[in-house]
Amino acid sequence: MTHTVPFVLEAWSRQRLQTVERCLDDWVSANLDTGAAPGAPADLVAAMRYAVLDGGKRLRPLLVLAAFEAVSGHRAQPSTAALRAACSVELIHAYSLVHDDMPCMDNDVLRRGKPTVHVQFGQASALLAGDALQAMAFELLTPSDGSVAPDVQARLCALLSRAAGSTGMAGGQAIDLASVGGALTEGALRHMHQLKTGALLRCSVLMGAACGGASALVIEALAQYGNAIGLAFQVVDDVLDVTADSATLGKTAGKDADRAKPTYVSLMGLARSRAYAAELLGQAHAALALAGLADTSPLGALADMVVHRSH
Ligand code: IPE
Ligand code: IPE
Ligand code: MG
Ligand code: MG
Ligand code: MG
Repeated sequence: MTHTVPFVLEAWSRQRLQTVERCLDDWVSANLDTGAAPGAPADLVAAMRYAVLDGGKRLRPLLVLAAFEAVSGHRAQPSTAALRAACSVELIHAYSLVHDDMPCMDNDVLRRGKPTVHVQFGQASALLAGDALQAMAFELLTPSDGSVAPDVQARLCALLSRAAGSTGMAGGQAIDLASVGGALTEGALRHMHQLKTGALLRCSVLMGAACGGASALVIEALAQYGNAIGLAFQVVDDVLDVTADSATLGKTAGKDADRAKPTYVSLMGLARSRAYAAELLGQAHAALALAGLADTSPLGALADMVVHRSH
């Protein structure tokens, strides 16, 4: 008689989170090619490390690693490419948060339970730390030691640049700021959320798939999964802004209504927003089932976490 061991996300995540933290700590301090930091100003490095280390759920790196494992077919030690991809997307995410919190954008003072980067280091340093983290993400993807094949480097850079830029995160942020005080149609709101948040989550899944050498069919199914959880993530972020407290979130609750941001909650209320997130979760699981992969438990559990999280 065989017993199926139930999948426990916390146990799966523990080791991977440790590895990701160690790599981020190593990489966000050093010149990536020489292992030293010749010429990098200490104050700038301090602001970058403050933005990246000691906080955050690390959802995007976990998605990269989960997709890599699902595609490569075993609970593998991440390849160098997968680990670099996992950290690179977290650097883009951390940079987006630094800029998102600045007075010219959301003007937030609390992030990951600490004063925001511009509060701690000043606005110019926050701007530059974000710039430098963005550049560093692409440094990570292009090591010169032969550890990542050139075609994989190119694929990862193509995915990440498009997800971060004007047709992805930065474009979504522009729509967000242009929409303050106004009302969006459901379609326009969905588009904004898909860009500002969904693009980077989808990209995390696709980067992991690329590192595992996924077929076109698998990539298509995982893209659908990424679309669903990417949108669900921001729907839930909108809900938590209303329902959770600042201590739990590690960021100031209630800011969306204060700043008159169009959100899923402002458009359709809490109950329908929650129901929509649940519907998207169903779509994510359905897409995973279509992928035809042997073991998608980590991806499935991460989707559940996206929708059922408390912070
Ligand atoms: C917050 O992202 C910003 C959004 C895209 C909504 P996370 O909730 O993933 O933030 P951290 O990384 O855990 O701090
Ligand atoms: C931010 O959305 C999305 C980003 C691209 C950083 P929010 O402005 O809602 O994120 P929080 O609530 O400040 O984390
Ligand atoms: Mg914002
Ligand atoms: Mg914000
Ligand atoms: Mg928010």
